[in-house]
Amino acid sequence: MGTDEIIGKTGNYIRNVFLQEGSGHDWWHIHRVRQLALFIAEKEGADLFVVEMAALLHDLDDWKLSGENNMQSEKARAWMQGLNMDSTLTERILEIIGEVSFKGAGVETRATSLESKAVQDADRLDAMGAIGIARTFAYGGHKNRLIYDPGVEPVCHQSFEAYKNGDAPTINHFYEKLLLLKDRMNTETAKKLAENRHYFMKFFLEEFFNEWNCIS
Ligand code: NI
Repeated sequence: MGTDEIIGKTGNYIRNVFLQEGSGHDWWHIHRVRQLALFIAEKEGADLFVVEMAALLHDLDDWKLSGENNMQSEKARAWMQGLNMDSTLTERILEIIGEVSFKGAGVETRATSLESKAVQDADRLDAMGAIGIARTFAYGGHKNRLIYDPGVEPVCHQSFEAYKNGDAPTINHFYEKLLLLKDRMNTETAKKLAENRHYFMKFFLEEFFNEWNCIS
């Protein structure tokens, strides 16, 4: 099977799985991550096929969606084995998927290859800016979280366990993750894209608190 066919089949499979997902990790998130990852990969000279496959499969086994501590990417592995993909290539893609997810402010998540850096940056860019704001509140609603509670301070999570089990109001997520992303971009291309998204979130928060405090 050629690479175009593999990408086509994988795109269709993922679109079907994620089309009705209501927590901000829907098909369109995957689609945007794919586009962003390819844009970064082209600028940075990464392997486009590996990047596109990893972007398409990156949320298939995500702990946020499965509710399980599934770090093995079993569904992604099974899918690629089902397509009879080369095992070295499959392992490279699985390694990227394992490195994508943010696991807490105090937890280092290292991207070990250029391809991994492109996909990690793309996924993080989609958590920022106007889209990031929309997705964050969608996820908070999905988890039944308050929008904001002035009595609950943001926490800098020092372990993945603590981050995963947090159920603070959605506004706290900006301080616990989203505003930290700008400085965690791997590639120069993503650093540039992150700037605008970062300042848009800061502007949003300023306005949010002004309105909360009846100043505007
Ligand atoms: Ni994602």
